[in-house]
Amino acid sequence: MADISIGQRIALTGGKDFWHTNEAEGVTSIMVADGPHGLRAQPPERADNLGIGGSMPATCFPPAVGLASTWDPDIIQEVGEALADEALAQGVSVILGPGINIKRDPRCGRNFEYFSEDPFLTGKLACALVDGIQSGGVGACVKHFAANNQETDRMRRDSQVDERTLREIYLRPFETVIKRAKPWTIMCSYNVLNGTLVSQNRWLLTEVLRGQWHYDGVVMSDWGAVRDRVAAMKAGLDLEMPANQAHLDDALAAWQAGQLDFDVIRRASDRVLALVDKANRSSKGADFDQATHHELARRAAGEAIVLLKNDDDLLPLKPDCDYCVIGEFARTPRYQGAGSSLVAATKVDNALDALAEFGAVPFASGGDEAVELASRHDIAVVFLGLGEAEESEGYDRKSLDIPADQLKLLDRILKVNEKVVVVVSNGAAVTLPFAGKVPAIVEGWLLGQGGGWAIAQVLMGNINPSGKLAETIPLRLEDAPSFPFFPGDASGVRYGEGLFVGYRGYDARRQPVAFPFGHGLSYTTFSLKDVGISCDDAGVHVQLRVTNTGDRRGRQVIQVYLSMPDSKVVRVPKELKGFASVALESGESELVNINIPREELGYWAQPAGRFVIESGSYEIHVGISSRDLVFSEKIQISGDEPRCKFSMLSTIREVLAAPGGREAFGPIVEAAFGGDGYNRGEDNMMADVPIGALAGLASLNRDQIARLVETLN
Ligand code: GLC
Repeated sequence: MADISIGQRIALTGGKDFWHTNEAEGVTSIMVADGPHGLRAQPPERADNLGIGGSMPATCFPPAVGLASTWDPDIIQEVGEALADEALAQGVSVILGPGINIKRDPRCGRNFEYFSEDPFLTGKLACALVDGIQSGGVGACVKHFAANNQETDRMRRDSQVDERTLREIYLRPFETVIKRAKPWTIMCSYNVLNGTLVSQNRWLLTEVLRGQWHYDGVVMSDWGAVRDRVAAMKAGLDLEMPANQAHLDDALAAWQAGQLDFDVIRRASDRVLALVDKANRSSKGADFDQATHHELARRAAGEAIVLLKNDDDLLPLKPDCDYCVIGEFARTPRYQGAGSSLVAATKVDNALDALAEFGAVPFASGGDEAVELASRHDIAVVFLGLGEAEESEGYDRKSLDIPADQLKLLDRILKVNEKVVVVVSNGAAVTLPFAGKVPAIVEGWLLGQGGGWAIAQVLMGNINPSGKLAETIPLRLEDAPSFPFFPGDASGVRYGEGLFVGYRGYDARRQPVAFPFGHGLSYTTFSLKDVGISCDDAGVHVQLRVTNTGDRRGRQVIQVYLSMPDSKVVRVPKELKGFASVALESGESELVNINIPREELGYWAQPAGRFVIESGSYEIHVGISSRDLVFSEKIQISGDEPRCKFSMLSTIREVLAAPGGREAFGPIVEAAFGGDGYNRGEDNMMADVPIGALAGLASLNRDQIARLVETLN
């Protein structure tokens, strides 16, 4: 729109109020709203200052911690489609989600709103949610870009991350979603990244996002993340939210003073115009079907539940079994996290009422009554978990413990009854000190408004649990790779564990864990057979036959991990690079194909400054958990590493190993070291000495050695 005034262009780069973009001549404003797992739309008359209360009723689907535990892109896409329906019904054009920050440390208060400790799983599942949302004509907003992995001091703290770790772990999910799902918008985070405030971080918002990933959507700020509007706009931040008239005035004054180019203003405002144009193509106002969405919320919750332990097939409860239920979470479920993602749910199921559908359920909330009840019944189903105040946006946990009073109650119950099923409600990993003392544990995470019903169906066997851990459950907080470095201090938070986040770190230190990444049991059994692996220019292809060898329908998640034990660079022991969710009737069998695209095989190489595939021998592992791998095979992969140039700094080992190197350099090395076998290129005291250091030692001078080095190149 060439005829729009500079003042209006600048206005378009800011909000009109808490939830709307500005309007201009011929340009409507559009509404944005949280997200990510349910609409939190505040009509103007109900908007409060912090924008937290008074939102319209909406379906509260499982938060990302639950959706991720499904490992099922299909159902996540369905949730996205339903979210779009509800957004349109409430006149919302952009949903502020999904949150795709990596769960670096289990203490992060907002982990319930994020998917996983693994970038590949996060990227795949987030694409499904974005695809679902945007297929409905509503924009998504992937957040919080980037390295916003804690709540402590989140608006100031400097995330200090080396580039390889940043690229392979913390930026990777954003890169995946930007390139594959093309979200309409992306939200920049509050924090500082390697010394520069993210909302003014040109390297991130322009060089990487635009120059390397070719993103053409809108970069909006997190709410209140902008400190200097002019610097932010120059760095690549298009839209500041919420409204901040003083900042718009700053931008106009800077333009008038010749300190802010018209092209920068036009670039930002044109992107906002394109967003508004896209948003206005969707018709708004049609109502949504609450009952249908509630059924979807239940179905998603049912796939999210992770059966961690089930000794002697104690679960599912037999219809006529004599059991009781203990714990307030059974009656008053905790089904979502606190903060900006809080949804006013259209209805909320609780497990106790859902269990009562199967017959009367003796219940006690806690205390001596609960212990006495447990002593009078064959099985005690005990609901434990974290309360609303224990984990939230805005602050981090200090420990991974379930509250002591709950653990004490469980201990007293175990003294009178050993047949205990523990059901846990929590937004992020908690330590399970009782894991060796109870026969069955159900990880219920936070499951949204349908979670209480779903838990009851799993306990009674109407749903066969199929969830898998998207984050490791450690034995102790101190075992977490990030433990010493989190949450840092005023000088910043150093990501000292580097690549070794989550299972990457536990595996590297061969650390025992309570339950590993990818773990989850079923009421049926599966066989994985006839595994075949091939490799071509497109990538690595895994094929196998999965059979449901048990007596009931079930779903299994087949996982594929990649290792490179002899790599020339530092590597984590294994990385998830593929998975498939397979639902099978009893006795049914399916040929499953899992393809690892070639671009997933690289590591971030400096100084090449790109993902490089290293030539050599890799191991492909296939299994049903990161620590339950039933098949491994070595394959050769030809890489695309830049041709290695030899120099005077190349070591004796390197030049002797190069084609023609032994002929050229063998005699020199022998002459230099008196023929003691140092020229065999094996491990020895001199192997890592740079060849240039031989000048003077041997009969050759530097120029002659340099000329020999060049012959290798
Ligand atoms: C917040 C959150 C962000 C949310 C926004 C609007 O502080 O960090 O995720 O979308 O404000 O509520």
